[in-house]
Amino acid sequence: MIVPSGWYPVLEAIRVAGRPVGVKRFGRRLVLWRGKDGAVHAMDERCPHRGAALSDGHVQDNAIACPFHGFEYGADGACQLMPCEGATARIPGGLQVQVYPLREEHEILWLWWGEERAQLPRVPWFDEFGDEAGAATGSFDWPCNYVRSIETNFDFHHLPFVHRRVVKSGHRLDPYHVEVDKDHIKTQGTLRHENEPSGIDFRIEFKAPSVSLITLSAKALGLSADCPIDEANTWRCVRVQQRYTSIPGVRLALSWLALQAEWKLFQNREDLKIIEKVEPRLPHEGKDHLVRADAGTAAFLNLHRRLLDEARTGTNGSAL
Ligand code: FES
Ligand SMILES: [Fe+2]
Repeated sequence: MIVPSGWYPVLEAIRVAGRPVGVKRFGRRLVLWRGKDGAVHAMDERCPHRGAALSDGHVQDNAIACPFHGFEYGADGACQLMPCEGATARIPGGLQVQVYPLREEHEILWLWWGEERAQLPRVPWFDEFGDEAGAATGSFDWPCNYVRSIETNFDFHHLPFVHRRVVKSGHRLDPYHVEVDKDHIKTQGTLRHENEPSGIDFRIEFKAPSVSLITLSAKALGLSADCPIDEANTWRCVRVQQRYTSIPGVRLALSWLALQAEWKLFQNREDLKIIEKVEPRLPHEGKDHLVRADAGTAAFLNLHRRLLDEARTGTNGSAL
């Protein structure tokens, strides 16, 4: 189940330039396109005339034109031109595509998934991620439900096992603190050797519905924003920032290298091997037995359940 009424990341903004882009998110086919005025739009991909994929069409000023018969749809999703019927033809009301609120912030496109509202809240973000020019951004698809994907962000104690070739830390997670403030989870802890008081300190935070910040030091930050593709797959956008120098080009190069390492050595290789076999595919009460070190994951699952309950009962009092 997807928590409704929240901003979800759907694609890196840079990927939507002159041509429409088709993506699958929330179990639906969507098209993202950028009008001549620079604004990006999100719509259902299916053309309501006879079902062609609008993502194979083209942008015509501030409208998207279908590849099949050239019908054009504006930013509000309404058909505004049927070339086969002539410029003055009356346009049937059914020629309307579902549009979704979209924002372009932090180099990411965010789609509002949920009920319509006159005023939408801010896109969830961590201001301490700061200097955006020095961050490297990338994304990939993960073969797991988005709840399982987000769970992994809270999980620091897998590092010395899954990533033991690189991470030579101790195994003991202690101390470890978790704090929940409405839709914001904050955790911090130390991974250390059994008889040594110090080790690797970390801070992991989460803002609903799907953004996580991982801080290893004031100089090494990672941010992950997750979006359901469907029940069994997740689109994961990762931004990494290394602040070991103040020279912008070098900072970006270091961030880019860290991002490559994060993907190629860690997430898409070592993590993936574990994640793709985790059962059940969705966390299930009574099946997983969480321990003290999983308190961040437990807080996330509680928050997820609470937001789903609030959405079901119409009592959503959160900031989402
Ligand atoms: S199917 Fe799109 S214009 Fe005909
Ligand atoms: Fe990992």
